[in-house]
Amino acid sequence: MPEFADKDACELLDADHIAVKHLFVDYARLAIAPDAKATASERTALAMKICDELTVHAQIEEEIFYPALREAVPGAGALLDEAEAEHQEAKQLIADIRAIGKANPSMDTLVAELNVAIEHHVKEERDELFPKARAAPALDLVAIGGQLRERQQELMAGAQAPA
Ligand SMILES: [Fe+2]
Ligand SMILES: [Fe+2]
Repeated sequence: MPEFADKDACELLDADHIAVKHLFVDYARLAIAPDAKATASERTALAMKICDELTVHAQIEEEIFYPALREAVPGAGALLDEAEAEHQEAKQLIADIRAIGKANPSMDTLVAELNVAIEHHVKEERDELFPKARAAPALDLVAIGGQLRERQQELMAGAQAPA
């Protein structure tokens, strides 16, 4: 899709944020339904998709986006340290969700917790980090967007390959 190919780094990352938010909303809607037991396999699939997508998203930010900001945006160090700490918290929740493996009330609680944590984290990226990145003349956000997309496709292909 050509318009997708033109996304800069912030637009690409924010498109991910929005996509995963939709998955969280879908999950929550199923979890509160009166026939929650009947949707367990659907919830399991959604939870695994959320975990996979967030894992890849965090990894491309940590490998490409955050280091580029650390170098080119003066004074972003503390914000990036905080963002990385939040990634660690999210990774713990993701590991706990994967360990449960099948949707049940404990998984519902953890997915809801992850949703709140990610919402907070995304708000900081959107309101604080992205404006700093957009204002940094040394950052080529279109080029970084290309690197992010390439690495994301590589990791997604790896995640789907048989173990
Ligand atoms: Fe992000
Ligand atoms: Fe992040």
